[in-house]
Amino acid sequence: MTLRSKRKAMFRSLRLSLRFIVPLAIALAILAYSFVPLVDRLYLRWSVRDMDIRAKLIASTLQEPLADLLQQGNKSRLNALFTRALRDERLFALGYCDEAGNMLLHTPTFPKDLQCPSPAPEENKPGSLLKLPQGLVHIAANPVSNEGTPSGTLILVHDMSFVERRSTDTRKYIIMLFVVLGVVTSLITVFVAHLSWQGWMEGVRAMLRGEGILRPFSRPTSSELEPLVGDLRSLLRTLDQERRLADDATVSWTPDTLRSLLHKQLTGDQVLVVSNREPYIHMKGEKGIEVTRPASGLVTAVEPVMRACSGTWIAHGGGTADREVVDRHDRVSIPPGHADYTLRRIWLTKAEEDGYYYGFANEGLWPLCHIAHVRPIFRTSDWERYVAVNQRFADAVAEEASSDDPVVLVQDYHFALLPGMIRKLLPRSTVITFWHIPWPNPESFGICPWREELLQGMLGSTILGFHTRFHCKNFLETVDRYLETRIEHESSTIFHNSMLTLVESYPISIQWPPPWQETQPPVEECRGWVQKTLQVERNHLIGLGVDRLDYTKGILERLRAIECMLELHPELIGHFTFIQIAAPSRSSLEDYQALDARVRSLTARINERFSRGSYQPVCLKIEHHEPEVINRYYRAADVCMVTSLHDGMNLVAKEYVASRDDERGVLLLSQFTGAAHELHEALIVNPYHIEQTADALFQALTMPDFEQRERMLSMRALVRDFNVYRWAGRMLIDAARIRQREKLSVRIGRSL
Ligand code: G6P
Repeated sequence: MTLRSKRKAMFRSLRLSLRFIVPLAIALAILAYSFVPLVDRLYLRWSVRDMDIRAKLIASTLQEPLADLLQQGNKSRLNALFTRALRDERLFALGYCDEAGNMLLHTPTFPKDLQCPSPAPEENKPGSLLKLPQGLVHIAANPVSNEGTPSGTLILVHDMSFVERRSTDTRKYIIMLFVVLGVVTSLITVFVAHLSWQGWMEGVRAMLRGEGILRPFSRPTSSELEPLVGDLRSLLRTLDQERRLADDATVSWTPDTLRSLLHKQLTGDQVLVVSNREPYIHMKGEKGIEVTRPASGLVTAVEPVMRACSGTWIAHGGGTADREVVDRHDRVSIPPGHADYTLRRIWLTKAEEDGYYYGFANEGLWPLCHIAHVRPIFRTSDWERYVAVNQRFADAVAEEASSDDPVVLVQDYHFALLPGMIRKLLPRSTVITFWHIPWPNPESFGICPWREELLQGMLGSTILGFHTRFHCKNFLETVDRYLETRIEHESSTIFHNSMLTLVESYPISIQWPPPWQETQPPVEECRGWVQKTLQVERNHLIGLGVDRLDYTKGILERLRAIECMLELHPELIGHFTFIQIAAPSRSSLEDYQALDARVRSLTARINERFSRGSYQPVCLKIEHHEPEVINRYYRAADVCMVTSLHDGMNLVAKEYVASRDDERGVLLLSQFTGAAHELHEALIVNPYHIEQTADALFQALTMPDFEQRERMLSMRALVRDFNVYRWAGRMLIDAARIRQREKLSVRIGRSL
């Protein structure tokens, strides 16, 4: 707990206690004011009784000398007797009345208005009180007798002003006593309230975090919380159910669905995306500045989401003309001509790019997470750059955030540390991290020298998304192996450093309807265009591969399968061409250069083996193609081969399906892709099994039309329903639910 939050909690306890203290103070004040007159009356009664006794004592002392002197008629000695008696400081005046009720003798202090009692009072009659200008006095009339014969009445007047004085003092002490009582009670109340507050809040917060809701028996709840827990649980369950129902009921996810979701569930909340690769690259070309779209599954998926929800995308500005088009805050509105959202570019030095991007991310984490039999390389200098660049992006997020609680979508393995860094700068933000590549098993991940730091960084996320349940499971097991955390497998949450992270699978997808639906040429035209460029006949069969030139994509295995298929089915030689589009990628790395060389030489070997005249079975295009052009190839291809050795999802598979509104074409798909978990109607292959893949290729090329249609229809329905808007929507719905839960927790904290 920080000093600030401690002070806040103390203040809350104080506020809570005030609700008790104020009525307590009022009650004590009322009590004090009704108590004081009571004490006054009691004290007065005691004093009067004392005075009665005292008056009787003085009267009986004076009785004898008074009777003697009266008998002698010695007035001066009588006066002396009275004056002596008055030396008692309480005795204020003395008077003597005869039997007939005449005042025979009195001290000068005797009150003028005071008359002799007539008839003479009885013995033991209690005295009375009189209020004189000089104060309260007690008057006692005592019968005097001479040798048994009543002779008159001795009147004693006692000063009672001390009663008033003492009563003022008593009142003061009583009020002080009540004040002290009030203060002590209040302090004890504040202290007890503070302790109970903390206990309550911890209980309620734990519950709102989902502990005990998703696993009701996981944690004993204090008995005082039981009724509240019950109410909150049912409230939250209702909320959860409503949300899920809303999600399931919304069958067709469109940009509008996503927009209205953002509007309803995350009203006014800012959405920030962070990725390494930018969605639009400005390059200096022959005709001036040209804009290109990178070959990146991540960009393909996230860009339509950003178009739908606006916001700001923070990415590395890597294009040769990127700096020329940004404003003084390094921002540019995109897409060109539409300005749907803002791109904030971050400039990296060559050393930063080498260490963070080429080094740690692509020579370390990329091979670490993909089982493609390329060894990861970890260098301390790369790690240091990776940490520094993650921090630069975290600072940029804080700069771009217009509130202290934005929704930040962190993309991919370039930013494993970013969630933790953002959490430090913006503790109230909602960080949704999506890991676009596979997550390996704990043993494989364990070879990374900075495994704990990476995991801790990722656990700064509110939600951590993977493509499949299998990757989630691997991640939970990895955390379990290397960090001290509490993992709730049932709810798929990790509690670490007072922070709860939901680990969930969100299979990524593509835009639906596909972006070129309205403008794309008919399938026949696309086929004609490709056949023309290949200089082949109209019924010539076309196979297609579209990838980044990456060793995880299984391009070599694919080429070997094609070679094998041609060996097994020589009748297809001259009637089938495979087009491999390979976007150059990370070309300055050795492994990628080696792959480039091997792909070229294998292609050359196959072409050499099976070429007939101008016919070549493999057409290799190692160059960048814009998405619209790739879409035309998809529409022309009889079969699309996706043979990744390991792939998080692989969006080429889904793009191919989406492009085929003619419901033709066959998808051949590696079992090691995330897409294979969804597109069951594809021909699923193990790319390491060359003959099996070759058979599948032949089956695809000879598949009857009706079967193609059946398979394609089913896959298209899946890609349509589980499109990228649903992918983003599900994550944002979960984020909204967590935000609401946190807000509820704060509100309950405020009102308790
Ligand atoms: C994969 C990664 C993305 C990356 C893309 C292209 O899809 O998950 O993060 O953007 O490859 O790689 P590149 O290094 O060119 O950005």
